[in-house]
Amino acid sequence: MSTPFPYNDRVISGMRPTGRLHLGHYHGVLKNWLALQHEHECFFFVADWHALTTHYEEPSLIPESTWDMVVDWLAAGISPGSATLFIQSRVPEHAELYLLLAMIAPLGWLERVPSYKDQQEKLKERDLATYGFLGYPLLQSADILIYKGGQVPVGEDQVAHVELTREIARRFNHIYGREPGFEALAEQACKKMGKKNAKLFDRLRKKYREQGDQESLEVAQALLESQANITVTDRERLFGYLEGGGRVILPEPRALLAKASRMPGLDGQKMSKSYGNTLALRDDPADIERALRTMPTDPRRVRRTDPGDPEQCPVWQFHRIYSDEGVKTWVREGCRTAGIGCLDCKQPVIDAVLGELRPIRERADEFEQQPDLVRNLINDGCEAARDAARETMEEVRHAMSLVLP
Ligand code: TRP
Ligand code: SF4
Repeated sequence: MSTPFPYNDRVISGMRPTGRLHLGHYHGVLKNWLALQHEHECFFFVADWHALTTHYEEPSLIPESTWDMVVDWLAAGISPGSATLFIQSRVPEHAELYLLLAMIAPLGWLERVPSYKDQQEKLKERDLATYGFLGYPLLQSADILIYKGGQVPVGEDQVAHVELTREIARRFNHIYGREPGFEALAEQACKKMGKKNAKLFDRLRKKYREQGDQESLEVAQALLESQANITVTDRERLFGYLEGGGRVILPEPRALLAKASRMPGLDGQKMSKSYGNTLALRDDPADIERALRTMPTDPRRVRRTDPGDPEQCPVWQFHRIYSDEGVKTWVREGCRTAGIGCLDCKQPVIDAVLGELRPIRERADEFEQQPDLVRNLINDGCEAARDAARETMEEVRHAMSLVLP
C-alpha cells in the first residue's frame, strides 16, 4: 500500500520521557532527526502519556524527564525553527482521536502486537495488565494519524506499531470514507482535473485495479499530487478511489528505519538504561573518561603482552563509530600483535566521545540558564501542534457523524 502524496512529507516521532538522553539515543535517533528536520516538516514530541502506560505508579519522574529531554534535544541541535517540538499531553486532541480509533480497533489486533506479550514477559516486575498498556500502540497510531504523518522514524522494535497504524488508517478510511454516492463524487472530482488528465487518471486507475500495476498507481498518485485546481477533499476522494477504498481521510504512514547505527554500550550490548551501560549526553567529562578507561576489553588480553582480537572487544565497536580508517588499521594491527595496550587503544575513542559531547553539554548549560526561553519554545510548539491536530479532528468528527444534523 502506498501513502497519499499530500502528506507524504510530514515526519512524526516521539520519545518516552525516561530520564536523560544517552549516546544510544543520540546515534540511534537524534542524528536521524537532525537530518530530517531540514528536509521535511517535522513534529517531535515527548510521549508522556506513553510513559504512564508502563510507569503509572511513578509519575513523579515525568516532569523532570520531560524537561531534560527537551533540553537534550535542543542541545543536540533540534531546532524549533525547523521542527515543531511539543508534549503529547498538551495536545489533548491525541486522546480524542485515540478514543475514536478505539471504537474500530479490533481487540485481536492489539493483543497480537508483538511488544504486548514481549514486554509483559520482560518487565515482570511491572503491572502491564492494564487497559492503558494494551492501548499503547493505538495511542501511538493516534499520535501519528492526527498529523496525517507520512513518515515515522523509529527503531526496529517500533515497526509493528507503524504497521498497526497503517491497518487502523485503512480500516478507518474504509468505514468512514465511504460517504453516500462516493463513486459519483469521485468521478465528478476526476472531471475537475480537465479532460486530458481525467482520461489519463482513468487509464492508470484501470491498469492498477485490473492488473495490479504498481507503476500506474504511482504515476496516478503523482498526477493527483500535481493538481493545483482540486480541493483537498476531492484529492482525498481520488486517492481512495484509485486504490479501491473510501476517501483517504487518514493517510497511511511509513516507518523510516534509521540507517542502523547501533550504538554499543560500555559492555558491548546495545546501549540502554536498563542494562546500566550508558554514557549520558550531559555526564561529567571526568566520569565519561573514567567509564571508558575501565570498560572491559577482549578478555584474552590479561597482560599487556597478550595479543587480542578486536572483534571480541566492545572498544572496537566504539572505533567503528568514531574512528577513521587510519586509526582502525592501527587498532587491528596493534591489538593482534600486542603492539599497543588497551589504554592506548581507548584514547582516540575517549577523545572522540568527549569532543562530540562538549558542544552538546555547553549548549545544554545555556538552555538551562534560560528556563523561560525553553518554556516559551515548548508553549509555542504545543500551540502549533494543536492547530494541526484540530484540523484533522474537524474532519474526523465529520466523518464519524459527530455533528448536529
Ligand atoms: N512508542 C515509541 C517508543 O517507545 C514512542 C512513541 C509514541 C512514538 N508515539 C509515537 C514514536 C509516535 C513515533 C511516533 O519509543
Ligand atoms: Fe580492545 Fe583495543 Fe584492547 Fe584490542 S587493544 S582488546 S581492540 S581495547
